[in-house]
Amino acid sequence: MRLLLSLLLLSSYYKRLSFYNSKLILQATYINRLLLKENIKMKKNYFSELEKLLDNSSAPYSGFSVASIVVCKDGREFKGVNVESAAYPTTICAERNAIFTAVAEGIAKGDIESVHIAARNAEGLLVTAHPCGSCRQVIAEQSMNDCVVYSYQSAQDYTENAIATLLPFAFLGEEL
Ligand code: THU
Repeated sequence: MRLLLSLLLLSSYYKRLSFYNSKLILQATYINRLLLKENIKMKKNYFSELEKLLDNSSAPYSGFSVASIVVCKDGREFKGVNVESAAYPTTICAERNAIFTAVAEGIAKGDIESVHIAARNAEGLLVTAHPCGSCRQVIAEQSMNDCVVYSYQSAQDYTENAIATLLPFAFLGEEL
């Protein structure tokens, strides 16, 4: 009897949880559409360039290759790949590598229009990869919380997200 009761409670809890989750997903999708202003059109598809760039990734420890291209409002493009280190935490992600190069080349905060990402796993399969938390922080700061992130699995199959969707309530440093 007790077991039955706990099972009932558990299932209603999970139902509520999944309802809650789908509501959250719906809200996030809605906010993303608003942030993307519904009608944003990808100016150029970077998949084939990213696929080539993946070969430059240095990922001997995870076998997970990532390539990223940062595109500025004036058309400038900057490339990055993940570079792993034997001292594991020293590894740097593709997205931050691309952004740090862009900064070194003289871009200003707010110049970034979009960030394009492709990844290949240890089995050699192309997989959709969204930026890690640290990269989201750097993308948000350098774009002044206003750019679009494209994660590709193929030229046709990609996700399109506003950075403000990927990192809500971003800490942009105004409080410092
Ligand atoms: N990685 C990236 O380059 N970008 C991401 O957004 C996620 C993770 C890299 C870091 C590491 O070399 C490998 O992927 C596995 O975590």
